[in-house]
Amino acid sequence: MAKKTIRDIDVKGKKCLVRCDFNVPMVDGVITDENRINGALPTIKYLLDGGAKVILCSHMGKPHNIFTEGFGLNKKEKKAVEALPADEQAAAKADFIATALKKDQKKFTLKPVADRLNQIFPGKVTFATDLVGDDAKSKVAALKDGEAVLLENTRFDAGEEKNSEALCAKLAEFCEVYVNDAFGTAHRAHATTAGIVQFGFAKTAVSGFLIEKELKFLGGAIENPARPFVSILGGAKVSDKIGVIESLIDKCDTLIIGGGMAYTFRKALGYKVGGSLLEEDKVELAKQLMAKAEAKGIKMLLPIDNVIADAFSNDANIKVVDGDIEDGWQGLDIGPKTIALFSEAIATAKTVVWNGPMGVFEFEKFAVGTKAIAKALSETDAITIIGGGDSAAAVAQLGYADKMSHISTGGGASLEFLEGKVLPGIDCLNNK
Ligand code: 3PG
Repeated sequence: MAKKTIRDIDVKGKKCLVRCDFNVPMVDGVITDENRINGALPTIKYLLDGGAKVILCSHMGKPHNIFTEGFGLNKKEKKAVEALPADEQAAAKADFIATALKKDQKKFTLKPVADRLNQIFPGKVTFATDLVGDDAKSKVAALKDGEAVLLENTRFDAGEEKNSEALCAKLAEFCEVYVNDAFGTAHRAHATTAGIVQFGFAKTAVSGFLIEKELKFLGGAIENPARPFVSILGGAKVSDKIGVIESLIDKCDTLIIGGGMAYTFRKALGYKVGGSLLEEDKVELAKQLMAKAEAKGIKMLLPIDNVIADAFSNDANIKVVDGDIEDGWQGLDIGPKTIALFSEAIATAKTVVWNGPMGVFEFEKFAVGTKAIAKALSETDAITIIGGGDSAAAVAQLGYADKMSHISTGGGASLEFLEGKVLPGIDCLNNK
């Protein structure tokens, strides 16, 4: 069902609570990849230009332990506190939590994102040091039409991930209109991604332009792809990709499997895989998936040669083998014949979806296959859609980003979408 977007509503003078995914990589407070910020800019610009009062919010990282799971998860510290005399325990526990909170606040604050947004929209974006506390309230009250405030990390409030109605009620004060543009977090049913609408606090709930674009490309690929439709799946584990393999077998013409999970398929074909990544308990499933593909007339392409190494290291000795991998060796990348086979399938495709690296991309020596696939994608005229995560990073690092039709900002979210799952952050929005 098509969802309403910000184009379909009146935003002038309205308090618009906009959920973004500003969960960007950061080192010592410096943002190292702005892809997700850039993805949100068209929506923010539209709302600012349209005279809305823009209240931005997002999570950053996983400050879970303290905020959502409580003290109990920090087993080592818990033990140390429990070893203290009973009358000292409460104070020691409070101390531990206060210290951990401070550390998390420094590590997971969204302040650098607010600063960056304020550079992009000069003088228009302020930062609130809390989510629904005094600072947020006063900054929101001070907003003029065409100005924005970014609230502090939503996950600093334990109610976010618990989808707490009480938190949603507080957020409702900032929300005449709810806009979700956080595609990367749309698979989470949290207070700011879905709860505020599900509990009835936001009657007008629409998508921003980023979600609209993600749905156009990812939705287009699985609902009505230009054919031949080739899916390329990589990554370490079959178990992480079962849902998406099953879903894509029903939709694509060719399914390419690479990365660590390919060794479970190789084993299912009867090859020795040495010390390669193997999910012994998924070998039977791999056989069933291959049989299903064959029964449906889907071409399933697996590596026909591999780069193998005598250690999991960039300094390992390596060689290329076609068949069995002997003990003492492990497959860490696809080989040249496989690169040629996969590249040929890509060259004749009209739509390609790629998620997951072909080898151990972190090691230069075993990044060759992943780079070659990125290159093949950059050279085709097909619609090319890159699932988030490692494949998006590979394409960006190699300078091919602007050669792709779409690079999703969602890792887990794009996988769940391709699996055909309902994403709560999208499902809750108003239908057209
Ligand atoms: C992501 O990075 O995939 C999204 O921001 C969601 O983050 P999460 O996995 O911590 O919910």
